[in-house]
Amino acid sequence: MIAEAAFAMLACARLGAVHSVVFGGFAARELATRIDDARPKVIISASCGLEPGRIIAYQPLLDGAIEMASHKVSHCVVVQRPQAHFELKAGRDIDYAQAVAAAKAARRDVPCVTVAATDPLYVLYTSGTTGQPKGVVRDCGGHMVALAWSMENEFGVKPGEVFWAASDVGWVVGHSYIVYGPLIHGATSILFEGKPVGTPDAGTFWRVISEHGVVALFTAPTAFRAIKKEDPQGEFVSKYDLSKFRILFLAGERADPPTIHWAEDKLGRPVIDHWWQTETGSPVSQNPAGLGLLPVKYGSPGVAMPGYEIHVLDDAGHELPAGTLGNVVIKLPLPPGCLPTLWNADDRFREAYLDEFPGYYKTADAGYVDEDGYLFIMARTDDIINVAGHRLSTGGMEEVVAMHPDVAECAVIGIADAMKGQTPLGFVVLNAGVARDVATIEREVVALVRDKIGPVAAFKMVVTIKRLPKTRSGKILRGTMQKIADAEDWKMPATIDDPAILEEITVSLKERGIGA
Ligand code: COA
Ligand code: AMP
Repeated sequence: MIAEAAFAMLACARLGAVHSVVFGGFAARELATRIDDARPKVIISASCGLEPGRIIAYQPLLDGAIEMASHKVSHCVVVQRPQAHFELKAGRDIDYAQAVAAAKAARRDVPCVTVAATDPLYVLYTSGTTGQPKGVVRDCGGHMVALAWSMENEFGVKPGEVFWAASDVGWVVGHSYIVYGPLIHGATSILFEGKPVGTPDAGTFWRVISEHGVVALFTAPTAFRAIKKEDPQGEFVSKYDLSKFRILFLAGERADPPTIHWAEDKLGRPVIDHWWQTETGSPVSQNPAGLGLLPVKYGSPGVAMPGYEIHVLDDAGHELPAGTLGNVVIKLPLPPGCLPTLWNADDRFREAYLDEFPGYYKTADAGYVDEDGYLFIMARTDDIINVAGHRLSTGGMEEVVAMHPDVAECAVIGIADAMKGQTPLGFVVLNAGVARDVATIEREVVALVRDKIGPVAAFKMVVTIKRLPKTRSGKILRGTMQKIADAEDWKMPATIDDPAILEEITVSLKERGIGA
């Protein structure tokens, strides 16, 4: 999260090169997967990232990924940060500062390359249902139109004002609302390398807002839950001059009404939930601040924005009446800015988004639209979970857990977490005859996921059980396991193979203090 990250993205755009930004919290293997899919000519990296209390050296990640990937990258451009030195490899690596200085000395101006509106600007990988992430393609023209329109009409920001998306350039929010959106609109954007709490305290957001005259802040509800936990009375808020600050936008995960109420109460400003995805690139539903705010309905991320026609269908594709929970879909064609396809994977694009409900784009979210046209998003319909606003695949985690030599079978589910919304919980069944210490194996499984996917997976809980609950046809009953772990009411599934297993699981979870 340094200015050079944005420079690098914009330089690619200027050259007509396609960029693919990778979040710093992923492990080398995830980076290698992306290198093999995107097949980049050049990698641009900092020498490190900063997390509270620790420096994340990127050299092991980068060297490890390049070593692992079959596609060979010819050059890396490295920004040396003072906190960690990157040992440049002769012939491969180029020092960013030296390269910029040499270009300046040689007065080497590089003109903008004209591209078609439909040419790709970037590929951003996001979690799919397997360990192979989806390369969401963004085009140039539609994206620019959608972002410029949304800055003015949806976020209500004027050119020259300061807009702050407290996210990371590694996510779509960072692409759209740290880099491209504010800049194309002539607004000022803020790059913030830090957290809402602990860097150094729960007043950081208010300090940045007051120091830079921020008019609108965009972040994930998790950030506010974290601030609320540290500073429940909102004492830090009154220490700063927030006179220019007008409005707070929340997205990335469900905004729970208590968090919205708390933010409204402490800030005295409108708090606007809105809903979208990496695939759409800008809000699908919102309460449009620029066009004029509608009455807020708590728990709803607003109404469909122009260009989007939202429908709710049952599993057979029939339209559901207002207020009935079903599959949230968008009528085709998708408006400008939405993904035209997946990188090198047209078939996967059709299969993942278009095939199940002909004529509609499948969002893979479940929800309903009320009689006033307000949308409510309740859950995902696939195995994606949302941890601190980060979109993660439990299927991808299961693939890694299953690599442990002592694991015969496994399941990973998302359970409720008061701060992060959801958190992953792994269940493992050990191979017959394994006599090793179970706690040691569980620690190894946690370490394996951290090593193969990265710390961002926040995978910290594993419970060893005797067997997994399945239907007679062999489908793992993940939904029931989640209800037990979350201490919700659950019914014995009629198709269960052996009902005793669920009791075994309840006992195993109770021993760990999970579930009631
Ligand atoms: N590089 C390396 N590691 C990273 C990282 C990065 N860019 N971002 C996160 N991580 C690591 C964290 O250090 C943490 O590691 P740990 O397990 O050793 O503690 C792990 O990944 C999980 O990170 P996170 O989910 O962010 O949890 P946290 O406990 O560090 O912080 C919050 C909690 C609430 C402060 C944090 O999640 C937050 O600021 N959330 C806001 C949500 C947000 O910005 N979402 C983006 C989408 S809009
Ligand atoms: P991402 O592609 O990482 O932006 O994640 C998109 C997913 O996050 C959506 O499909 C939803 O499941 C979830 N999401 C994003 N915004 C919201 C919101 N405002 N309310 C509920 N869920 C949301």
